[in-house]
Amino acid sequence: MEKVDLDWGNIGYGYIRTDYNYISYWKDGQWDDGKLITENTVTISIGSTALHYGQECFEGLKAQTAKDGRVLLFRPDQNAKRMQDSARGILMAEVPEEKFVKACIQLVKANLRWVPPYGTGASLYIRPFLFGHGDNLGVKAASEYIFCIFCSPVGPYFKGGLTPVFFNVSEYDRAAPRGTGGIKVGGNYAASLKPKKLANAAGYADCIYLDPATRIYIEEVGAANFFGITRDNTFVTPKSSSILPSITRRSLMEIAEQYLGMKVEERAVRIDELDNFVEAGACGTAAIITPIGGIFYDNKLHTFYGEGKEVGPVVKGLHDTLTAIQRGEHKAPKGWLVEV
Ligand code: PLP
Ligand code: COI
Repeated sequence: MEKVDLDWGNIGYGYIRTDYNYISYWKDGQWDDGKLITENTVTISIGSTALHYGQECFEGLKAQTAKDGRVLLFRPDQNAKRMQDSARGILMAEVPEEKFVKACIQLVKANLRWVPPYGTGASLYIRPFLFGHGDNLGVKAASEYIFCIFCSPVGPYFKGGLTPVFFNVSEYDRAAPRGTGGIKVGGNYAASLKPKKLANAAGYADCIYLDPATRIYIEEVGAANFFGITRDNTFVTPKSSSILPSITRRSLMEIAEQYLGMKVEERAVRIDELDNFVEAGACGTAAIITPIGGIFYDNKLHTFYGEGKEVGPVVKGLHDTLTAIQRGEHKAPKGWLVEV
């Protein structure tokens, strides 16, 4: 398969149009078979609930090229399950797990020339999304749904890959205590646009969100989960019902405990205990593992390993093990990799 002509080592995190997209329609209680399309547009009614009431959710996963040329998806079943949780949370039709995974495979197969080659550090980001459409006015769930997937070759989400990045603490909340923070719905991201812009304007890569009920505990790092490493090599990460249950984080917890022999704690993490962490990171599909250099909080920059100038050994070890697993170069727990 001849690849498209891209500077693979230098692509950022942006939209690059590929050859095919996927679309499937739900009506009268059932999904159609779904198909690949070459257009990158969708036509919907001006009354669609997605446009007015935010009845939309999305997922993100990646395909990577292994050394032997195989193309591997990382835990697509977990994204399928989380999209079902999101669908239930805002009363949308659920996409069956098998349909979701098959559609991702079908789309990647059709766009093989856009899958970054082995060793470039880039990957193919896959973006499944689901939304309500049809003629509607009242605040209620739609009677029709569209499930789409597009993909785009991407580099790291935070510039610099393993170069540490800096965050401040937002004055805003991304989700309510008993709201939609734990599912991946568009509204959470609408709420994050302004805080992110303010963080960028102040010179930070993004912002940390605190728990919306008390603003004592760390919730998210932009569009990624937080973890910190203590002096005694414990992997600590927040427990809260209003953060997105990251598949990357769940995988890292298993890797830390079972492959790297670390202790793992999922618990409420106070923002004022930052100085107990010798290293910290942000993890997610787009972010992979991004080392956190420092966090500006309480009028002070709290730095981590090497005063935030370089990645620490534990975060690097977690990053290298996770990415080796994703490229099929390290033994993976059963079911984590799905070949396209
Ligand atoms: N938190 C938020 C708010 C996100 O948008 C994401 C990205 O999906 C994550 C965490 C990381 O989740 P995952 O590792 O499943 O990509
Ligand atoms: C992902 O990591 O897949 C995300 O969804 C983050 C994205 C919103 C940039």
